[in-house]
Amino acid sequence: MALFNKTKEELLPEQFPEHIAFIMDGNGRWAKKRGLPRKFGHREGAKTFKKITRYCKDIGIKNITFYAFSTENWKRPEDEVSAIIELFREYIVDVRNYIGEEVRVLFLGDKTIFDDDLQKKMNDLEEDTKDYNKMTMLLAINYGGRDEIVHAAKILSEQVKRGEIQPDEITEDMFQKYLYTADVPDVDLMIRPSGELRLSNFLIWQSAYAEFYFTDVLWPDFSPNELDKALIEFGKRSRRFGGV
Ligand code: IPE
Ligand code: IPE
Ligand code: MG
Repeated sequence: MALFNKTKEELLPEQFPEHIAFIMDGNGRWAKKRGLPRKFGHREGAKTFKKITRYCKDIGIKNITFYAFSTENWKRPEDEVSAIIELFREYIVDVRNYIGEEVRVLFLGDKTIFDDDLQKKMNDLEEDTKDYNKMTMLLAINYGGRDEIVHAAKILSEQVKRGEIQPDEITEDMFQKYLYTADVPDVDLMIRPSGELRLSNFLIWQSAYAEFYFTDVLWPDFSPNELDKALIEFGKRSRRFGGV
């Protein structure tokens, strides 16, 4: 598969992100521009999610994370929230049809808020795909970066309380294991369409050294071609991780 006229093999490893995160933003504005209700924008955005997932798999990206619904998005009108959750349900039922068989699926966020049957579908999908290693696709739903950090802190505090570890034994690596992303490597490339220049509580720990790519394109209009542009830009960045 051609990637800006080169194959993945022709690129230097550091020019190719191991983990790309997408903030799927701009669905509402996409619909508004067309005089449509916001939920039509979410439906169109979900199609983009499918397209981008397939493309990432084709070009050999190992980990991709999508921000689908934040812990703050519950503030939205009830009908919009339920339209998004319904869409999510539809897409996870159908997941095998568009990602194929070799993709591990993980959900980031607190699942306990969802109906039991939906939680079961999410857990089953994680379990059924846990040994796949062509790509890991992570879907952040009812996800908040701060919530994730507090959640990890609670687990570690319980271990301290039980006397299993001492507070001064806690390391960054140990802490990281209790994040929803657990064994998934840090984000290399964070992509936010729609013109907003912020993280909105997404992967705040994991993107400590991510490269950021912002574009005015609205998520429903985001395409493999737009992703290529982001990858070209990523290839030009000099990543120093605090070194020289
Ligand atoms: C992102 O699109 C999808 C979710 C937050 C669920 P928005 O719905 O935020 O679209 P805009 O930002 O209003 O255009
Ligand atoms: C971030 O987008 C959340 C998702 C894309 C799921 P928002 O539209 O909720 O972010 P803000 O409110 O503009 O910061
Ligand atoms: Mg938005």
